[in-house]
Amino acid sequence: METKILKPTNEDILKAAGIIRNGGLVAFPTETVYGLGANALDAEATAKIYAAKGRPSDNPMIVHIARASDIGQLTTMLSPTIVTLIDVFWPGPLTLIVKKRPEVPDVTTGGLDTVAVRMPDNQTALDLIALSGCPIAAPSANLSGKPSPTKVQHVIDDLSGRIDAILEGEDCRIGIESTVLDVTEDIPTILRPGILTAEDISAAIGKPVKYDETLYARPDFATSHDDSLDAGFSEDFHPKSPGMKYKHYAPKAQMIVIEGLRDNVKSEIERLRVLNERIGNKVGVILFEEKAFIEAAHDFFAELREMDKEDVDLILAGALSDNDGVGFAVMNRMLKSAAYNIVKV
Ligand code: TXA
Ligand code: MG
Repeated sequence: METKILKPTNEDILKAAGIIRNGGLVAFPTETVYGLGANALDAEATAKIYAAKGRPSDNPMIVHIARASDIGQLTTMLSPTIVTLIDVFWPGPLTLIVKKRPEVPDVTTGGLDTVAVRMPDNQTALDLIALSGCPIAAPSANLSGKPSPTKVQHVIDDLSGRIDAILEGEDCRIGIESTVLDVTEDIPTILRPGILTAEDISAAIGKPVKYDETLYARPDFATSHDDSLDAGFSEDFHPKSPGMKYKHYAPKAQMIVIEGLRDNVKSEIERLRVLNERIGNKVGVILFEEKAFIEAAHDFFAELREMDKEDVDLILAGALSDNDGVGFAVMNRMLKSAAYNIVKV
């Protein structure tokens, strides 16, 4: 299949919208990462997303809308908490898990009775959704298992020839995916951490917000010899967000996360780098400025892809020390891309 590269002009966005309306696949920019979109209410169209990404079909997708009130097409009841969250954070990097209407097809939600909804803060995305005239289901626009795409070139590298069109845009402003918040229970629970933290959300709604406990789990991938997708997770590890159980964001290189006091981390990275280079390995280092969590979020996926391009054999990454903020969200991605291969110093 030939993939059209479209510009973010009115004319091209209209073409992209036509493709979505006809059941096709279009990748588009958002403020977090690029998404791979299809008509969320068309089961045949969304099923194609799984095939294009090589993604397991029990992994539900986020449904993107262009006006907050369009959430009514997907769910029936909005609690005061949900209304406040929408008022404060949309458009923006907050995905809400709500009970789904029967009209939302099972392929979109991976068979769950809930649906993930967000209104992205990117004009091209909003225009595309509005002109398509339907909500757009869109996971990140990468091949399954690869780092999420934050530049249009990443999308071209992964999906060229596999989808109908790619709508060009700027590099993504945030760089990690949206915060996923389950608002179906009494206490809102973060299933995937992001740039909006539990503290930010709690301040807006005036009640506690918790991180799902599985976010603190550190499954023993590194020593597991089973390469099935969820190898390394014990029997009692049942993440609520199905996407959290798969191996994710993996670069081609081996990757080790080094965790500890900053000076110790730096010297261990140096020690491992020197020794590995001496035996002929190409080594890449990812070490962000201390506490520069926003910058780390912005750059992390792009750095992983850069290392793949340079055919690095081993990536040494310095852990970010943060238990509940933006650094925690970046660490969630870093640990997965390293398959939880952690060295403590
Ligand atoms: O920033 C983002 O959220 C990007 C852009 C394109 O909007 N999208 C994105 O989609 O990251 P994806 O498919 O890569 O991640 C969706 C996450 C997965 O962890 C999935 O398991 C979870 O949201 N999710 C989706 N629907 C869910 C549901 N009904 N219940 C629980 N988790 C759900
Ligand atoms: Mg993804």
